[in-house]
Amino acid sequence: MAINKLGLIGGGNIGGVLFAEAAKRRLAKRIGFMDIKPPDLAKGKALDIAEGAPTISTDIHYDAGKEFNVLEGSEIVINTAGVPRTKRPDGTIPTREELLQTNIKITKSVAEGIQKYCPDATIISIANPLDAIVYTLYKILQPPKNKLMGMAGQLDSGRYRYFVAQEAGVSVENIEALVLGGHGDTMVPITRLATIGGIPAEEIIPKDRLDAIVERVRFAGGELVKLFGNGSAYYAPAASAIEMAEAYLKDKKRVIPSAALCEGEFGVDGYFIGVPTVIGAGGIEKILEFKLLPEEQEMLNKTLI
Ligand code: APR
Repeated sequence: MAINKLGLIGGGNIGGVLFAEAAKRRLAKRIGFMDIKPPDLAKGKALDIAEGAPTISTDIHYDAGKEFNVLEGSEIVINTAGVPRTKRPDGTIPTREELLQTNIKITKSVAEGIQKYCPDATIISIANPLDAIVYTLYKILQPPKNKLMGMAGQLDSGRYRYFVAQEAGVSVENIEALVLGGHGDTMVPITRLATIGGIPAEEIIPKDRLDAIVERVRFAGGELVKLFGNGSAYYAPAASAIEMAEAYLKDKKRVIPSAALCEGEFGVDGYFIGVPTVIGAGGIEKILEFKLLPEEQEMLNKTLI
């Protein structure tokens, strides 16, 4: 059953895919779509996607524009407002943390908009640096902790699963893999828990190949920034956030790694960090804590620094 309204803040690369996918899956009866970019990016993209709706046999109802009022009444919002990483002229790429100054300012205005037009909405945030932006939203809005989450773990785990599937020559559907920690180069892929059809991946893929996969996962975002030249990953991030939104909207109780406020779990207290969560109608309904090996715990502690 579709909810009444889904709000999307930011109508750039990720926002556009979110709008199209949410419409295709009929996640909400109405979509609120907001972007400050003139002359009116959100309105334009929404119209473009709506004009394709008859072809893909879906119905789209939306409010789109440059002001936050289009979000009025949203039960859930997905936030992508912010600058992405972009390759510098010398070919180097910035870290996600280097986006902080600009994106914190944007996040403050996003928080004001949410406060004013949909203060009770559950929030999924994607803008980078992920963990810091989610924490900023938390500080300003002070929502119940189950109603605020960051999208990163599903993306990082998805990348891990895809690379393992390729290496093993099997379907991605048979791969489970978990990445914990921050959404940066210090993320913590838990290799011993990666499985291929239920069999530990370590028993099927040689250690040096698995190590190379872990390294690729850590820098997978940067690999795309280099290939794109003028922006960062957007399809897989959007698909990941839509899975989270759908788990919430359909009360699926799916286990999805996401950035959640930890209060003692995994030895983390008072910070948002990527952990396995159960997402259902209550938002983050549970954090699934398990015992980490000492070296995994050490890696996790490092992501907080
Ligand atoms: N309010 C609303 N929208 C804003 C605001 C704001 N205050 N400031 C910027 N935006 C919009 C921009 O106009 C732009 O259209 O956010 C959009 C971001 O879109 P892109 O530049 O295409 O970036 P995208 O690839 O979608 O990534 C968005 O998610 O993954 C992260 O690092 C990425 O921080 C980036 C964010």
